Amino acid sequence: MTEQSPTLDNLLTETRTFPPSEEFTAQANATVELYAEAEADREAFWTKQAERLDWDTRWSQVLDWSNAPFAKWFVGGKLNVAHNCVDRHVAAGNGDRVAIHWEGEPGDTRTITYAQLKDMVCQAANALTELGVRAGDRVAIQLPMIPEAVVSMLACARIGAAHSVVFGGFSATALKSRIEDAQAKLLITADGQYRRGKPAPMKANTDEATKDTPSIEHVLVVRRTEEEVPWTEGRDLWWHDVVERQSTEHTCEAFDAEHPLFILYTSGTTGKPKGILHTSGGYLTQAAYTHHNVFDVKPESDVYWCGADIGWVTGHSYIVYGPMANGVTQVMYEGTPNTPHEGRHFEIIQKYGVTVYYIAPTLIRTFMKWGAQIPGRYDLSSLRVLGSVGEPINPEAWIWYRENIGGGRTPIADTWWQTETGGIMISPLPGVTSLKPGSAQRPLPGISAKVVDESGQEVGRGGGGYLVLDKPWPGMLRGIWGDEQRYVDTYWSRFADQGYYFAGDGAKYDDDGDIWLLGRVDDVMNVSGHRISTTEVESALVSHPTVAEAAVVGASDPTTGQGIVAFVILRGDVAEDQAKGEEAIRALRDHVAQEIGPIAKPRQIMVVPELPKTRSGKIMRRLLRDVAENREVGDVTTLADSSVMDLISAGLQSDK
Ligand code: WTA
Repeated sequence: MTEQSPTLDNLLTETRTFPPSEEFTAQANATVELYAEAEADREAFWTKQAERLDWDTRWSQVLDWSNAPFAKWFVGGKLNVAHNCVDRHVAAGNGDRVAIHWEGEPGDTRTITYAQLKDMVCQAANALTELGVRAGDRVAIQLPMIPEAVVSMLACARIGAAHSVVFGGFSATALKSRIEDAQAKLLITADGQYRRGKPAPMKANTDEATKDTPSIEHVLVVRRTEEEVPWTEGRDLWWHDVVERQSTEHTCEAFDAEHPLFILYTSGTTGKPKGILHTSGGYLTQAAYTHHNVFDVKPESDVYWCGADIGWVTGHSYIVYGPMANGVTQVMYEGTPNTPHEGRHFEIIQKYGVTVYYIAPTLIRTFMKWGAQIPGRYDLSSLRVLGSVGEPINPEAWIWYRENIGGGRTPIADTWWQTETGGIMISPLPGVTSLKPGSAQRPLPGISAKVVDESGQEVGRGGGGYLVLDKPWPGMLRGIWGDEQRYVDTYWSRFADQGYYFAGDGAKYDDDGDIWLLGRVDDVMNVSGHRISTTEVESALVSHPTVAEAAVVGASDPTTGQGIVAFVILRGDVAEDQAKGEEAIRALRDHVAQEIGPIAKPRQIMVVPELPKTRSGKIMRRLLRDVAENREVGDVTTLADSSVMDLISAGLQSDK
């Protein structure tokens, strides 16, 4: 635990608690008995949760862990995920219920009922089949936050093709490597997307990515911004030409519980993103169960809104699969929170009467910066549950969120989980838990987590260490696409003796045994809730001709959680020329955006003469983080050359 940020340690001084109100508890989906029930018989508990879904064939075994860490849940069971998310609600007489209240960034809107969604998904499934996509194939999706994104994902699920959604802000290079890794057959994209009030091209970017990807047979293009697009005759097809002429009838097939549902790439500690593989039955069970209990949703009356993008796992599990398996009405918003004004989110909450609202701490801190007077102008009284995800939420932000958005009354679910876990793992239960601002508190019923020390021994109350998941769970990743060994090495080797999953997060128990998450303990940064690896940014930097060497750290940032700070050694000829140095820095920031995406652009790039390294050549990021956070530099005794830090500090002083 050498790499913890001191600001996160401050969390532990928070002592306020917020017990649930009696009224809330009386109507809550979750009850305190769930914990004991799951404890008494985990498999029986998960059996009951799986019964939330429609299965064509019932499973013969709940969990097969005989080939650990490769799990099989609901062995022998068969189901169709799209049927569970759409058709069964229509069959139950709820076809007229709104599935999506969609709000475009420019102010255009669409209302889609479950019956309409069913037609759209069936048409898209027929179109994909016509284009030669079959069960087991992969489909890459890079789309803005428009209903076609949800329809595409569900259409893939319906025909048993795994989707690989790539966040719209990722560069052509990033998209290309994901297409290649998954050998995707089809790419679904759009002409462009609205971003901060303006249309931005998307197809031009995806064309760059697919210039040299032989696995891609067709590119299906949704018209959104109506901008001119480059076109490859024969390969490219308009969604409105191909999908909208299809029949709205499509008989779906049931797939094995372990049939791949999607691949989602996430940053690891090395430069190459990992294709996290999720399958069908267990994943959907956990998504539906957690969504029902953590957000207390009532499909008949709630209007749920998750502000994530479908390019991230939160969008997969808590915009598409969880809410739709539960048949709720939700809001989907295309754009940025301050377009055209800083009250946009609150205006939407007021307009649709949003009752459950789930966002990331970085956005809460942004709202705080904009000021409490902005939410104060809107009627937010419909809200009854708030959620937070993606990074530790600091107590000040938690309190501000509850006071200014939640009217001082709503419970807040601080939900800890990961792309790999598929669904929420640690969270308070509204109506049950006495809330503590800043703590994710307890593993959900049916989920097991521990905080352990270096040797894998559980630490006591008040103790800190590493977060591990000590029992398999239904939504767990089934592997890394195409790389079984990396799956074992990354997650299961650190505590191999105990057979624990290593999450990569530091954590602490407080005196009550509640869990406080303390941020990553590996080389993964968390910038505005997005995972970016230091190595990935370093590789991007050194791929530029002016850079000799680079080291990247995540420095704490009041708004984004962490900000990317890069230390680079320029090549001799560039470094000597001051003017060229500045130009080089600008070029480098753009280069990183091009290699990975704008989200990975360093906040700051510092040119240094040397980097601090241990005798074995490992960069000591801890020391660089001290510099980036303007702290006194810590212990330098393990450096191969202890004068390096003086050199760096002196160089940076003279730049000021
Ligand atoms: C961090 C997002 C503290 C954590 C769902 C984890 C959190 C990583 C929380 C996963 C939380 C997520 N409190 N930290 N409530 N939620 N994290 O894969 O470091 O994008 O390992 O999944 O985000 O990020 P990912």
